[in-house]
Amino acid sequence: TIPRYVKIVEVGPRDGLQNEKEIVPPSVKIELIKMLVSSGLPVVEATSFVSPKWVPQLADAKDVLEAIQCVEGARFPVLTPNLKGFEAAVAAGAKEVAIFAAASESFSKSNINCSIEDSLARYRDVALAAKKLSIPVRGYISCVVGCPIEGAIAPSKVAYVAKELFDMGCFEISLGDTIGVGTPGTVIPMLEAVIDVVPLEKLAVHFHDTYGQALSNILASLQMGISIVDSSVSGLGGCPYAKGASGNVATEDVVYMLNGLRVETNVDLRKVMLAGDFICKHLGRSSGSKTAIALSRT
Ligand code: HMG
Ligand code: MG
Repeated sequence: TIPRYVKIVEVGPRDGLQNEKEIVPPSVKIELIKMLVSSGLPVVEATSFVSPKWVPQLADAKDVLEAIQCVEGARFPVLTPNLKGFEAAVAAGAKEVAIFAAASESFSKSNINCSIEDSLARYRDVALAAKKLSIPVRGYISCVVGCPIEGAIAPSKVAYVAKELFDMGCFEISLGDTIGVGTPGTVIPMLEAVIDVVPLEKLAVHFHDTYGQALSNILASLQMGISIVDSSVSGLGGCPYAKGASGNVATEDVVYMLNGLRVETNVDLRKVMLAGDFICKHLGRSSGSKTAIALSRT
């Protein structure tokens, strides 16, 4: 059986744009976020308070987050890698943050320049500071089935990090196939290991579509009872520290599949497509969503 409602977490403005070489002006990011909210998406991850040397595209995090304070209808989590980022996020008005660990030691080092254990210690500080302010913290785990450096990742490693994030107070844990190498053959055993240690309703899945497996992996996750799915408008994205990783699964494709399954999302597909058109025109490229391409012809 499949959940009757799925919460879609739109990550386009953050995960989708973070890897873009050409700097997208804040006004375009703000307009994109507003269009995504008007499509009914309940959560729009807005930006990251990370080092601008590591992710230049999101150096305008403060301007973007401040400008959407007045926008109603969605939550706007932002990524915070440490206390410095957390404090800057709160000062700019963040009401929800996300911390991001990895299941692969090498990826942790290349993404946030520290070991998994050191990152968990840092994140405990962030989680504690957030708790004092009653700010909900989402936890991400990268490389849940494969790592660009280490190859296959054991499900037990993912379960370990998931339990740590849960124990430090994360209200939701997003399991990321950062480089999009997973198939249901690797995703299902990984989910089984995590479900053993973290309540099912706390788990989200985050797939990239490098090998065209994202929708199959989402369907397999739904069949296991997962009801939170991350996606990115027009399939924007990649990861600066995961070479060759293609975009996130496209929000339009996820909504189309969920509509077909009669699963509620409260998202208006046509309006997501308008947001997709807007950002693709700005970036000068065609949509990465097969649904958007097909429907724009009809
Ligand atoms: P570091 O160089 O080890 O940090 O970077 P440091 O503490 O030594 O500081 C170095 C400099 O950065 C200092 O400035 C700090 O002030 C500054 P300087 O004195 O040299 O001028 N700094 C900051 N500036 C702004 N905001 C901050 C901050 N912290 C330090 N928060 C650090 C460590 C974690 C900061 C760095 O590695 C970093 O920012 N990494 C972010 C990488 C990133 O954003 N990756 C993409 C997101 S993860 C992802 O996409 C995967 C996901 O989507 C899931 C999936 O797809 O599977 C979530
Ligand atoms: Mg991602």
